[in-house]
Amino acid sequence: MHSPISWVLNEKGHVVHTISPAATVCEAVRGMRTHGIGCLVVTEAGRVVGLIAERDVLMRCIAAGREARYTPVRDVMTTDPPMLRPDSTVGDAMTAMTDRRTRHLPVVNGDDLLGLVSIGDLTRWMTRHLQGQVRSLESYIQGAYA
Ligand SMILES: NC(=O)c1ccc[n+]([C@@H]2O[C@H](COP(=O)([O-])OP(=O)(O)OC[C@H]3O[C@@H](n4cnc5c(N)ncnc54)[C@H](O)[C@@H]3O)[C@@H](O)[C@H]2O)c1
Repeated sequence: MHSPISWVLNEKGHVVHTISPAATVCEAVRGMRTHGIGCLVVTEAGRVVGLIAERDVLMRCIAAGREARYTPVRDVMTTDPPMLRPDSTVGDAMTAMTDRRTRHLPVVNGDDLLGLVSIGDLTRWMTRHLQGQVRSLESYIQGAYA
């Protein structure tokens, strides 16, 4: 929980898939399909201006009766998404995801986009971390009582 998010990024990689706010929702969905991911970070002039995730497409485009081929990303994206800094912890990320009900968090340092973590990345990290702790405790107990 106290591990810096930069450790998760170092393992996962720093590539972030982005899209322009002027692109269409259809182009955004194609981008998600191409990369096998559930969101794109929306950037303009190198700055993060929003995030478009599968849920935004469903709720604000499809359910709202908008035509994905003609609707710009800026009309359905989540503006002002919660973001992390490189010194944020895994615990900070889990709190932000729970409190703000989001599954993806860009990591930024000022205007620099350093990476993105998903709820799946955190679950993977926590599972591995907890398995390591369980193994250490097991060997400690076995050693102590051997
Ligand atoms: N997180 C969700 O919104 C969601 C919803 C329904 C199902 N799922 C399923 O759960 C599993 C894990 O999903 P997940 O939580 O890791 O989300 P995900 O499927 O969006 O992410 C998969 C991987 O791609 C990375 N990624 C996502 N968007 C990115 C971007 N714009 N730039 C760079 N990397 C990006 C993530 O960090 C993660 O490592 C997947 O099988 C997915 O289909 C996820």
